[in-house]
Amino acid sequence: MDLKNREIDEKLSRLRIRDKDSDSRKIWGDVLDERTILTLYRLLKRGFIEVIGGAISTGKEATVFYGLGEEDKEIAIKIYRIETGDFREMEPYLAGDPRFDSIKRSRSGIIYTWTQKEYKNLKRASNAGVRVPEPITSMNNVLLMEFIGEEEVPAPHIKDVDMDLEETFEKIILNLRKLYTCAKIVHADLSEYNILYHHEPILIDMGQSVVISHPNATSFLWRDIKNLSKFFKRRGLKDLNEKDIFNRITEG
Ligand SMILES: Nc1ncnc2c1ncn2[C@@H]1O[C@H](COP(=O)(O)OP(=O)(O)O)[C@@H](O)[C@H]1O
Ligand SMILES: [Mg+2]
Repeated sequence: MDLKNREIDEKLSRLRIRDKDSDSRKIWGDVLDERTILTLYRLLKRGFIEVIGGAISTGKEATVFYGLGEEDKEIAIKIYRIETGDFREMEPYLAGDPRFDSIKRSRSGIIYTWTQKEYKNLKRASNAGVRVPEPITSMNNVLLMEFIGEEEVPAPHIKDVDMDLEETFEKIILNLRKLYTCAKIVHADLSEYNILYHHEPILIDMGQSVVISHPNATSFLWRDIKNLSKFFKRRGLKDLNEKDIFNRITEG
């Protein structure tokens, strides 16, 4: 074993993580820097995390892990990678949102702000009755939220399920309408990859979501609608009119 692997193993041991096959060691190697270890440590010590499990997904900016939280409830642990994450696309979504105007411009500063932004967006959405993973807490670059799925199996994306197209589409529109008119935010990265299906459609991944007063909010909403209608058309849903959809979402 080379030094790098030994270092990663030591870090994993400190976090009481036992899953050390070569795939997961590679994933953890990309995620764990000293600050992230400290943050996970604190979340373990405070009881927000009981167990850190395997990776569910590795994206451009974040890795999502399965875990157990308070009272052994299943949770999703989303860790934005400080050293190996791509954060260049975050700026345009932060600038222009009055909630995050005075952000620190360091790499970790941007990522911490981004994580907090996703937490706040999920909270706002959930308070408005939008079906999203209930956020639990966020600390630095780590976000804890309700796990969508059961018995360690994450829910599939809508692109991978057989569903009642019309009913699912209607539920998504209703969620987007609540998101716009009550939570007053636009998802801004909506696609069949950011909607899970667990008994019903559930919107996820809201780091980039912006308040409706953001200068680009309307064009982000149009892009969301286009992605959504393209997907549902492809699956066979007829008579989709994007202008109608826009009106239904925005008219309170
Ligand atoms: N709360 C959750 N419960 C279960 N699976 C989740 C949850 N959040 C994310 N995932 C899974 O992890 C993937 C990546 O999460 P996402 O928030 O979309 O981050 P990314 O920015 O990498 O796209 C999702 O597509 C989904 O499969
Ligand atoms: Mg995503």
